[in-house]
Amino acid sequence: MKFKYWMQIWNLSNKYRFSKIGFFKFFIGYMFSPNYKLVYVLDKKKDAVIGFNFIEHNRIKRLVVDEEYRGKGIGKKLVPDYCNLVCTDKKRDAVRFYQNLGFKIFFEDKHIVKLKR
Ligand SMILES: CC(C)(COP(=O)(O)OP(=O)(O)OC[C@H]1O[C@@H](n2cnc3c(N)ncnc32)[C@H](O)[C@@H]1OP(=O)(O)O)[C@@H](O)C(=O)NCCC(=O)NCCS
Repeated sequence: MKFKYWMQIWNLSNKYRFSKIGFFKFFIGYMFSPNYKLVYVLDKKKDAVIGFNFIEHNRIKRLVVDEEYRGKGIGKKLVPDYCNLVCTDKKRDAVRFYQNLGFKIFFEDKHIVKLKR
């Protein structure tokens, strides 16, 4: 994977206010363990990452599609069938997206929602 793609993922992560520490934890995990997987989609013309999914085992750790590319099925493509667990912040408007992919809520509090399928 090109280093510039990691930089683009870093920028997307920050643009949508995901934790920087979480990024580095994933990066290190990805370098050293086969349990960490990265799925990403490129805009080939721009040679730029427009969406990515950080996966640890079967759990979605961080899923982002850049705003201008949303609503085109890219998010759906980024979630492989073996991903069946996710925890999302309530501030993010993603619960219905996951429900659309067959996930069901099994835990909810003031801040987070956990879903599985
Ligand atoms: C959530 C996110 C990844 C969705 O990406 P996307 O590329 O727009 O999703 P898709 O186009 O593949 O949508 C798949 C389906 O979910 C629906 N959907 C997508 N986002 C939705 C939302 N916020 N609310 C309700 N439905 C939604 C779509 O309408 C589509 O339905 P359809 O199959 O019936 O047409 C994207 O909005 C995003 O990056 N959000 C910011 C970061 C975030 O919240 N990440 C998730 C937390 S880890």
